[in-house]
Amino acid sequence: MGDYLVASEESRSLVLQVYDERYLDVEGIEEEIAREEVLSASAHGVTEDPTGLSAISTLIRDMRILVCKARGTLSNGRLSPRADWMPSRTNCRVSRLLVEDLADSVAPLGRRGIKVGTVDSGSEFFVPAEALDGRITVITGGKESGKSHLAKMLLRGLLTHGAYSIVFDLNDEYGSIGLDGEGKKTGVFPLVKVMRPGREMKLSLAAAGLRSITNLLSHSLEMPGTSLREFVKIWDQLEGRNDLSLASLEAAIHQWRCNEFVRDALFARFHTLASCGLFTDSKERQFDLQGFFSREGEGGCLVISLSGVSPLNRRMVVELVLSKMVELLEHRKVPPVFLFAEEAHLYLRDTYWEDLITRMRHFGVFTIFVTNQPDAIDQKIYRQVDNIFLYNFSNDADLSMVSQASMADTDTVKAVVRTLPPRTCLLLGHAVNNLPVILSVDPFDSPASGTTRRFFSEPVELDVRS
Ligand SMILES: Nc1ncnc2c1ncn2[C@@H]1O[C@H](COP(=O)(O)OP(=O)(O)OP(=O)(O)O)[C@@H](O)[C@H]1O
Ligand SMILES: [Mg+2]
Repeated sequence: MGDYLVASEESRSLVLQVYDERYLDVEGIEEEIAREEVLSASAHGVTEDPTGLSAISTLIRDMRILVCKARGTLSNGRLSPRADWMPSRTNCRVSRLLVEDLADSVAPLGRRGIKVGTVDSGSEFFVPAEALDGRITVITGGKESGKSHLAKMLLRGLLTHGAYSIVFDLNDEYGSIGLDGEGKKTGVFPLVKVMRPGREMKLSLAAAGLRSITNLLSHSLEMPGTSLREFVKIWDQLEGRNDLSLASLEAAIHQWRCNEFVRDALFARFHTLASCGLFTDSKERQFDLQGFFSREGEGGCLVISLSGVSPLNRRMVVELVLSKMVELLEHRKVPPVFLFAEEAHLYLRDTYWEDLITRMRHFGVFTIFVTNQPDAIDQKIYRQVDNIFLYNFSNDADLSMVSQASMADTDTVKAVVRTLPPRTCLLLGHAVNNLPVILSVDPFDSPASGTTRRFFSEPVELDVRS
């Protein structure tokens, strides 16, 4: 299933992809099967078959039909997406087409391969890093299907090619990508930085900037417009005096001439900002976001650990980091970044999704969404997605939803994904030139982490209690 065939005729061949397999149903075959069963059961003595009829009948009974979708036409070794003709049923030659040969027939997307697994039972498969660059990617599938595993492979691959990434890590599993299976440091180890918001990750108000802070106030903390305007005035005044800090902000709100409701609103938000632990006035404890991303050409991976962070703080961190990154990108102070977002619906406001895939992508934030809840991503967004790595789903509703949203035809996706073995995914979209490929994902050489905590952790031989 998912394999490619070509039906060749003179100078051109039609590329076909198998998406279903069934037995050949010829007229009267059931009657024939029944007759033979009865015969073989009742007439033991009859073994003679001078014309070899039973062999032919067995062959016919075992014949299969491969149901295919036409994917394009190969002529002179080049593939075109045209599939508007039919080869002759009698004269064409049907043969297997390997994914690597198929790949040779289209222009390569790039040279920076990331080895992720194998195709066609054995040949190596690389995702070009260029296929993720400037693109939106989704990795989805049921629980424990291997999504994070694949995301880590892509992340390490990008890092090896000198790219910059940010990871919103919910389960503390990405911090170990700089280590190999035995826990030894690999070449990329120094480029990986794990930060826990409120602990290592603290910003000064000035570094966060007015825009990010007002975004935070209005979106995460739902500050009304009137108070927000007063806040901006206070900020400008402090900035003008070059005296921007939590302490001076508090003092300024105290002295500010405004109505009591506004002051209360200002104070309430100020206290949330001050107590969330994300901001500090201390110079030594500030994290330099811009500095991290402006190291020339080395690449880097900032893992923001969101486990153990309250939902409100999660949203604040995520919004703060995103709006700060967009600001830095806008002024070309940092290179484009890849963003790995696990279960983003847990910390991303609805309106942010569209922002991420449209506006932020233009500035240079290229997101890889990882989720086991495909319905958490809106249909509108799927239409903008360039690459989908699709693992098996145990839930039919999820599968229908993804297959409708994906860029390949629903029939193929549904039929193929349902039969996917573990550790195997269907790759759709730009990375494979819209020719869906079944990919068997490699093991990954890093310490196991992020596995769900268990109560019964040790495997027990046999627990006999009586
Ligand atoms: N291709 C693979 N080869 C070997 N082991 C794998 C492979 N893919 C996944 N695993 C292992 O299977 C387990 C589950 O994988 P992973 O954590 O990536 O799943 P997940 O889809 O992210 O799960 P969850 O929905 O819980 O986040 C992990 O222990 C991982 O190491
Ligand atoms: Mg996971």
